[in-house]
Amino acid sequence: MSELEDISELARRRGFFFPSNQAYGGTAGFYTYGPEGAALKRNVEDVWRDIYVREEDHMEVSAPTIMPEAVFEASGHLEGFDDMIVECADCGAAHRADHLVEDATDIEDAESYGPEEIGELIATHGIDCPSCGASLAGDPVEEFNLMFGTNIGPGSSAPGYLRPETAQGIFVEFPRLKEYARNQLPFGVAQIGRAYRNEISPRRALVRVREFTQAELEHFIDPETDDPPIERVEDVELPLYSTTAQNGDGGVERHAVGDALDAGIIGSEWVAYYLARSMAFYERIGIDMDRFRYRQHLAGERAHYAADCWDAETELGGDWIEVTGFAYRSDYDLSKHGDYSGEDFTIFRQYDEPVTVERATVDPEMSYLGPEFGGAAADVADALERLAGRDRSAFDGDAVTVDVDGDEYTVPVERTGFEITEQTESGEHVTPHVVEPSFGVGRLVYSVLVHARREDTVDGEERTYLELPPTLAPTAVAVFPLMSRDGLDDRAEAIAEDLRRAGLEVSYDESGNIGRRYRRQDEVGTPYCVTVDYDTLEDETVTIRERDSTDQTRVAIEELPEAIRRLLAGETLADIE
Ligand code: ATP
Ligand code: GLY
Repeated sequence: MSELEDISELARRRGFFFPSNQAYGGTAGFYTYGPEGAALKRNVEDVWRDIYVREEDHMEVSAPTIMPEAVFEASGHLEGFDDMIVECADCGAAHRADHLVEDATDIEDAESYGPEEIGELIATHGIDCPSCGASLAGDPVEEFNLMFGTNIGPGSSAPGYLRPETAQGIFVEFPRLKEYARNQLPFGVAQIGRAYRNEISPRRALVRVREFTQAELEHFIDPETDDPPIERVEDVELPLYSTTAQNGDGGVERHAVGDALDAGIIGSEWVAYYLARSMAFYERIGIDMDRFRYRQHLAGERAHYAADCWDAETELGGDWIEVTGFAYRSDYDLSKHGDYSGEDFTIFRQYDEPVTVERATVDPEMSYLGPEFGGAAADVADALERLAGRDRSAFDGDAVTVDVDGDEYTVPVERTGFEITEQTESGEHVTPHVVEPSFGVGRLVYSVLVHARREDTVDGEERTYLELPPTLAPTAVAVFPLMSRDGLDDRAEAIAEDLRRAGLEVSYDESGNIGRRYRRQDEVGTPYCVTVDYDTLEDETVTIRERDSTDQTRVAIEELPEAIRRLLAGETLADIE
């Protein structure tokens, strides 16, 4: 079996994750997290919160997952959140057309090509339907919008969509969120929640599903005045796979953050800051950093809103998979929501001192414009006002010409009421820019599991175990009675209860022989097992066994909670002896 098949088998058998709705034949692209998986996912999310909410001091919100159509008109998702689909004329199976081309050729950014070009590539490379083997040459390649649509309330007058990214739930609430931030930039808003995409070809277990959890941070900044605390991270080494390396024969190069910025490899200090901060996150959740890289987006690959973008990728089964997108989204989203909603998506930037500025204004004579231009008069007046703000030199001559819906209108300057006035201003309205790290929790959980799986031989018997970081494991400590009789079981249950009261995740198991119980815990990554045996009844001590080394030591029961706490904090069995 491949490492991905191994993990899917273990995940199903031990309750990490499994395909949903199997009783009804299954639904492609939907997975249920079982008891172990739900706990592991929660622990990954807690580490994320610890870094991006607590340590970075941002606010966390929780927004609805269904939003009205107007939101996605403004955000651009209705128009542009498409993937390319090709349907097999023989069997009717639908495939992601750009992925078929990438799988069959050396092209790595096929999504930046148009449907026609992809259709031609399918034909010239003789690509066949993966489901039935028929030729796909000549089958039309079309754009397919990935959003799940619905109706809000009865009837169809209020269309809505399941959000394809959690971010929009933050952007649309900016006018209120800025009040909580006391109208001061910079501030960040975090959210962990479900997102939905009607993926054409769900695949690779949790990697490409139709409902998934994102952990996103939207950091709102003033692009002119706010800088990240880059000095805190400038020595952090990043494994960078730049566009230059991708376009040539290069590979991953390790650069300190400061050097990567100086050399222009990373264009934005803010993006560099989050690439660096996130190294600590990936390490804490147990990603194998030898199977990890940051890959810069090629020009045609960037999302419709992104000005600069890097992906964190993990290597799984020989392929590199995006687990996080780091995007400099500029003022794209807030400007769009401001334009479409008419609400105020800006922040008032107070000057240190009031400044006197010259403003060019117009006050057109409508008694002239009306008879002269009829129904277009009001639009001509608006166009004159915009022109004055943009290019006052246009009013230098005797007449000025404006364009309204493609028609030109010439107005004598003396009829425009043009003048330059002095005004005192205390500040100005700015639309914040957004820096966004966007994490896919399911892809992270999957990567952690694949990277943690180990096999070895213990006492002549093969075993599989998950080398999860101790604080990330679903269960911190398992308690076993050697035998479920002679009072060993009652004593073990009482010890398990005490450990739970000490705040630990504890599992109690008395079924099967002790070796099999160890194997069960090894397979779900439990870092410590405590065994109650006949000596316990005599001397009030128990055995602690460590998962990776299988080494054991004895400790007094009354010291057990503290001993486990020290082990989880990184001390060794030798330290606590
Ligand atoms: P891909 O190119 O692999 O489809 P993407 O570029 O569309 O990914 P983003 O739009 O940047 O992904 O989404 C942010 C994060 O959300 C991704 O890094 C990924 O971890 C996660 N994600 C996106 N789509 C899916 C999906 N269908 N299933 C699981 N996780 C996903
Ligand atoms: N918020 C980034 C994305 O999901 O596309």
